[in-house]
Amino acid sequence: MSRSDISFTYLLLLFISAAVLVTTFYYKEESLGLQLNTNINKTKAKNNIGHGPKVIDRIIANPEEQDQSLTASSTSYKLVNNIRMEQRIFTQGLEFINNTHLIISGGLYQKSFIGILGIDYTNEIKIGQGNEFGAVLVSRKNIDNQYFGEGATIFKGLVYQLTWKQRKVLVFGLQDLILKTEYSMPADIKEGWGITHDNDYLYISEGSNKIFAVQIVNGQLKVMKTIIVTQQIGQNLDINELELVGNYIYANNYQTNNILKIDKNSGSLMKTFDMSQLYEINRQSVISKGDSFAYSWINNVLNGIAYNKNTGRFFITGKQWDFIFDVELIDQ
Ligand SMILES: *[C@@H]1O[C@H](CO)[C@@H](O)[C@H](O)[C@H]1NC(C)=O
Ligand SMILES: *[C@@H]1O[C@H](CO)[C@@H](O)[C@H](O)[C@H]1NC(C)=O
Repeated sequence: MSRSDISFTYLLLLFISAAVLVTTFYYKEESLGLQLNTNINKTKAKNNIGHGPKVIDRIIANPEEQDQSLTASSTSYKLVNNIRMEQRIFTQGLEFINNTHLIISGGLYQKSFIGILGIDYTNEIKIGQGNEFGAVLVSRKNIDNQYFGEGATIFKGLVYQLTWKQRKVLVFGLQDLILKTEYSMPADIKEGWGITHDNDYLYISEGSNKIFAVQIVNGQLKVMKTIIVTQQIGQNLDINELELVGNYIYANNYQTNNILKIDKNSGSLMKTFDMSQLYEINRQSVISKGDSFAYSWINNVLNGIAYNKNTGRFFITGKQWDFIFDVELIDQ
């Protein structure tokens, strides 16, 4: 090799190295850009769709792994009336007392209460196909500051209210909402989430795929049987607010807009009702008032299911929602 050949080779090598460096850097930038973009889009999706992050991730990561019964979710329900809340309530539990009044449980530390919500059916406003009525908190008893209120149900003439991590079950008189008894949650149940009942049992959820059938034995709450709700690999069930109608328990899956219909004996998941449209109506209402509607665990998620045996319809609401929706679930 001549001297000039050597310097030419060096130059060539230098050029190639430079080119490789520039290309590497360029692609790195590009992939970094793409990464950022993806993250931004994911964040948007979380805020818009109103499902919990866990659910979104599952759908993106593993579409084929979803439970068929959940995938075949249905929007088959009819919105009959809007019930406008006089004030926003961090709703944790809802159950009809009679056609016009409901027990409502409010959550959050230092703000939890048990109350009675009255529906004013005399002042109706026509809204499209349906009507709008007002809901007013007619009585309210704050519970101890250490407690975070959860689900509530009326069992043998008394109101049972769960507390979350404190795992106490508070029992009140139905008329006066005076605290009568306080039970400890059975050791099998890790947290208090949702509660309902039939003639024999209280049914309690803890934010898992289990529902516990509980009785009072020798002055203590005791788990008599555990209902395991059908769940497939990769599916996340955080069973929350409960409502029992006949042989079925209706439950909302926390941080989703889904209401599950569960066989109370076998735990089989019979049907999933997708209530995203109700979530959206409420979101629009909140935004129209200039209030923020950031999706977070603490706000806005669907919570609160009550069955009105006089109409055969359900009241559906959420945490801090402007409305309770009076809907007919169409079930075939
Ligand atoms: C992000 O969203 C925008 C508009 O919704 C879309 O055009 C774009 O392709 C998305 N980017 C990525 C990386 O998914
Ligand atoms: C319904 O329940 C409320 C609250 O307990 C009560 O004040 C009201 O009188 C009841 N209405 C009827 C028709 O029984």
